[in-house]
Amino acid sequence: MTARPGTALSGSVRLPGDKSISHRALMFGALAVGETVIDGLLEGEDVLRTAAAMRALGAQIERDPAGRWHVWGRGIGALEEPADVLDMGNSGTGARLLLGILASHPLTAVLTGDASLRKRPMARVTEPLSACGAVFIAREGGRLPLTVIGARDPLPLDYRLPVPSAQVKSAVLLAGLGAPGETRVVEREATRDHSERMLGHFGAVIRRRQIDDEGHAAQEILLTGQPELIARAVQVPTDPSSAAFPLVAALLLPGSEVRLAGVGMNPQRSGLITTLQEMGGDIAIENRRHQGGEPVADLVARGSRLKGVEVPAERAPSMIDEFPILAMAAAAAEGRTVMHGLGELRVKESDRLAAIARGLARCGVGVEEQPESLTVAGCGGRPPGGNAQAIETELDHRIAMSFLVLGLAAERPVLIDDMTPVATSFPDFADLMQGLGAEFAAPEGALKWQP
Ligand code: S3P
Repeated sequence: MTARPGTALSGSVRLPGDKSISHRALMFGALAVGETVIDGLLEGEDVLRTAAAMRALGAQIERDPAGRWHVWGRGIGALEEPADVLDMGNSGTGARLLLGILASHPLTAVLTGDASLRKRPMARVTEPLSACGAVFIAREGGRLPLTVIGARDPLPLDYRLPVPSAQVKSAVLLAGLGAPGETRVVEREATRDHSERMLGHFGAVIRRRQIDDEGHAAQEILLTGQPELIARAVQVPTDPSSAAFPLVAALLLPGSEVRLAGVGMNPQRSGLITTLQEMGGDIAIENRRHQGGEPVADLVARGSRLKGVEVPAERAPSMIDEFPILAMAAAAAEGRTVMHGLGELRVKESDRLAAIARGLARCGVGVEEQPESLTVAGCGGRPPGGNAQAIETELDHRIAMSFLVLGLAAERPVLIDDMTPVATSFPDFADLMQGLGAEFAAPEGALKWQP
C-alpha cells in the first residue's frame, strides 16, 4: 500500500469501537450471568479472536443483523475446558487478560498467537498469576505457545505492578474474580482503568484509593472476589487510539477540517491530545458527555503549524499506543520533539521504538533512538518521504497506519510492505481515510482482512 502526498482532508468520520473496551465487554459478558448486549463492538481481528476464545470456553456469543453482539455468560468459575488450542492472533490484550481468567478456572488450556505475539513477554502475567495457584508451562522467556493449568482453589492476589501495564493489572483482577477474599493491585503510574470501570458496571465490588507506597504516591485497587457478575448492556465508545490517525492527518494537511464523533476521552488515554495541543494543534473538544461509563467527546481537528515539544515520561502510559503517530506529527513539526519513558514500546506488536526510528530515517527525517526515548528533528513542513524501499511494518498495525499518514503529509509517497495488520484494530482505515480525501493505492482486494 502506498500513501500519496495529498491536500486538505475534510469530512466527518465514524470511527471503530475501542479495542480495549471491546475485549473486556466480551470477557466480562462471558463471566456474567445472563445476556450482555454490546453496541459498537470493534469487529477487528484481535477482538474476533477473543470472541472465538470465549466461545471455545463455553460462552454463547452471537452477532445480530443490526450489528449488536449478544453474550450469554456462564458465571465466574464456570467456563469449560477448550477442546483445542486458543489462537489469540496478534493480540497481547486478548492473550494476557485471558490468562488472568484461566488462572482461576480448574481447567487446562493452551494459548498461541501469530509470529508477533509469540515473541512478546508473558512472564509479566504468568509470574503474578502463579501466586493464585495456577501453573504455566511456557517457552523460554515465558513466551507463547504456553499451557495454563488453572487453580482448583484459587488464592487472592496482592501485587504491585513493576511496569505500568493495564494488561497486567487487568489479568490480576480477572484472576481475583475467581478467588475468595480480596485481591489487591498497587500501581504507581496510573494506567487505563477500563477493567475497573466495567467490573463496577457488572456489579463487582471494586474500590480505588490513593496510598503512600514506600514513599511513592500510588493507587490501590481492591476487588472483592467471587462476586456474581450481572449481565449488562455495554456501549463501546470509539477508539481514541484509532481516532489518532485521521486526527494527526488533519493537523498535518493545511486547510483540513475533520470531525471525529464520540471519541473516548478516558484521562488515561488522552495524552496524545494534550501533547498535540501543546504542539499548537488546533483540536476543538466539543460536547463532552458520558457513554457506557466512559467519558467521550466530539473532536474537530484543523490543519495547523506544529512545533516540537518535550513529552514527559509521566505522560507515557496515557498515550502508550500513540507514540508511532506522534512521531509522524513530530517529523512535520518545527523543531525537535523529545519523547521520554518509552521502554514499554519495545515489547508491543513490534519493537516500536526501533520501527519508528528505522522508518523515519528511511523517509529522510532526522531521528535518534535511545534505550527509552526518541528524538525527532522536525522538518518544519513536509518531510521528504519515501524512497523505493518499503517501510517494514513487522505485523504492527500502528506502524503501518502511522507511516501511511506520513505519506499523505510528505513530499514523496510512502510505501508500506504489508497492509494486513491494520485489520487487527481498524479494518476500515483505508476506506475511511479515502473518504476524507486521502489518496492510497493498493493491490485489488488487499484492504480487508478475511476471517
Ligand atoms: C491495553 C493496554 C496497553 C496497550 C494495549 C491495550 C489494554 O498495553 O498498549 O494496546 O487493553 O489493557 P500494556 O498494558 O502492556 O501497556
